[in-house]
Amino acid sequence: MTNNTDYHQFIDNDEGWVDRRIFWEEEIYEQELKQIFAKSWQFIAHDSMIPNANDFYTTYMGEDGVIGARQKDGNVRVFLNSCPHRGNKFCFADEGNARSFICNYHGWSFGIDGKLGALANEHVYDEGDIDKEKWSPKQARVETYKGLIFATFDQDAPSLDEWLGDFRWYLDMMFDNDGETEFIDGGIKSYVNANWKFGVENFVGDAYHALWNHDSGLKAMNKGEGFGPAVTENSYHASINGHGWEFGTDGYADVVIGGSEKWLNYVRDIIKPKIKEKYGELRSNIFGSLASVSLFPNISFLPGIQTFRVWLPRGPKKLELRVFTIVNKNMPEEIKQEINNACMMTFNPAGVLEMDDGENWEGNTQVNKGYLTRQEKLHYGCGITREIEHEELPGIIYKGQFNDANQRHFYTRWADLMNADSWNDVPTRYRPRHTKNN
Ligand code: FES
Ligand code: FE
Repeated sequence: MTNNTDYHQFIDNDEGWVDRRIFWEEEIYEQELKQIFAKSWQFIAHDSMIPNANDFYTTYMGEDGVIGARQKDGNVRVFLNSCPHRGNKFCFADEGNARSFICNYHGWSFGIDGKLGALANEHVYDEGDIDKEKWSPKQARVETYKGLIFATFDQDAPSLDEWLGDFRWYLDMMFDNDGETEFIDGGIKSYVNANWKFGVENFVGDAYHALWNHDSGLKAMNKGEGFGPAVTENSYHASINGHGWEFGTDGYADVVIGGSEKWLNYVRDIIKPKIKEKYGELRSNIFGSLASVSLFPNISFLPGIQTFRVWLPRGPKKLELRVFTIVNKNMPEEIKQEINNACMMTFNPAGVLEMDDGENWEGNTQVNKGYLTRQEKLHYGCGITREIEHEELPGIIYKGQFNDANQRHFYTRWADLMNADSWNDVPTRYRPRHTKNN
């Protein structure tokens, strides 16, 4: 790989294939850290995770450790969790409430605003040895969308609003269907020996695997009923700049997988009518259909099942998965608990469905150890001729529940960013929204 590498050579959207080396090669991974993770808007935390002044949460943007901290004025700052003295992390906690952080090695302290403060044994320094403003950890740009806090270290990146673009047409259904959302307290971390993109692409639109991979688990949970027949009518894939939503428009609330009748009834009787009133019939029909979503580059969620997950890269061959349950703040406690129980039973490391997937993603990744194996391509051609024009749905739209369309477009966006020297080089990968259903 050189600086002149054209990353579009690794993905062919017309023939429908992806080069396996993008799941294995160190050089490609290093380019991802620079071109994808240091440029894109990254999810940091939900507002509800750090509601009070001095609350903080530590996470990663690519492999860069960061702290997201609520300030006295209510804003959130995000800064590198690395001491500018010799580099050690200065916060080892996952989360907490603190007025400052003190580095273990020599005792430099940092305010909750990320600025360098007092130094232990400051007398060893002479006047002028250190400019504290200059030697504070790097700060990111921070913006929020309906309770989700995002950050980027790229000063030239488009605004978060632009980054999400018309994908907000879909996102509003999930994050603003009946007031504010919140994450249920606590999240679960796990590690999978797989490339981070296999998690993202699974959720961006791989309903196909559920027919086979989850069939047994689904039957065990659902009184002998598996995934059900293939739904190709009134089912779609929508892609907008690499973000993807796979859904149906039949209006069924079939979110009962691993869930409960009470939750199903709540979706049908409370949430769908609210969406209809606020956003119209089409989106009310979409919500509650079996749907799957990823936001470029590394967030996924399942509307209706309510799992929310972040795929943090740990080298090309390992990922850290952080999983949360998202609910509406004003739901009855009993419903929140039903949803959380369903998520625990299905989409977490001890859940019935997560185990099925993780094992496969590890297999997909680790086979590439074979030099010859990794020269072969992977097939992404399902439904490649099924692109349609739809007068109401924004995005690049493909018909059918089973289709590699969103995955193909995710990798196209990936290659766009991997190649780009500036944001002017990054093309818009969808037709702007039709005016009819604004
Ligand atoms: Fe942090 Fe020296 S490395 S104080
Ligand atoms: Fe799965």
